[in-house]
Amino acid sequence: MTQLAIIGGTGLTRINDLKIIRRDQLTTPYGAPSAEFITGELNGRNVIFLARHGNPHRLAPHKINYRANIWGLRQLGVEQIIAVAAVGGITHEMGPAHIAIPDQIIDYSYGRMHTFFDDENDTVTHIDFTYPYSQKLRSRLITAAAQARIKITPMGTYGCMQGPRLETAAEIRRMERDGCDLVGMTGMPEAALARELAMDYAAISVIANWAAGQTAGEISMAEIEQHLHKGMANTAELLKAFTRLDK
Ligand code: HPA
Repeated sequence: MTQLAIIGGTGLTRINDLKIIRRDQLTTPYGAPSAEFITGELNGRNVIFLARHGNPHRLAPHKINYRANIWGLRQLGVEQIIAVAAVGGITHEMGPAHIAIPDQIIDYSYGRMHTFFDDENDTVTHIDFTYPYSQKLRSRLITAAAQARIKITPMGTYGCMQGPRLETAAEIRRMERDGCDLVGMTGMPEAALARELAMDYAAISVIANWAAGQTAGEISMAEIEQHLHKGMANTAELLKAFTRLDK
């Protein structure tokens, strides 16, 4: 069976129902990954879990070694990645605690080590990234959500901001004009690096808050935590439903 990995973001530093089999502390040519890779069984299906921000949560989005994380997963034989990440909601369906399976990306991040193809001795390689997420994995996630009766939005454009600060209201207005439905800080270069290594990659975006200026007042951490808690409980159910489909 294809080796599946789950990368957990803010609010998902561990999967409670994962029966742990092994822990691997890897080194890669690109440095140290965020955390140890945890191999276990979720619902009888073999899964490798990685906490994107480390465990405990210590790495800000711009400090994450995305290359080491993706390389490490590849070293362990991973072919499919489901990436879970907290986001802000921009467009009207994307309210707090809701889940979306995005289908497009706009990358506004900068200064990150964003490619494996940067050795001067390599031939210049341009990967196709027209559809940045694996359609096959996305449609399996969408089917799993329907079977588990979890309400999701099966598409959306994810805008990746640099962080770690949240956005200004004007930045969010611009992102909305650009066509973004969701705003996060970790979706890139993760998705592109997975594509460079020919791994299937799809994302579960868990909406923690209305993005800046999309609702009255400021964004509070307490609000984010409360909504994430609910959204991550649904995400755990969605992941279990996915493993059931996939067995
Ligand atoms: N902006 C960027 N990233 C986020 C947000 C947000 O409002 N909420 C959770 N992650």
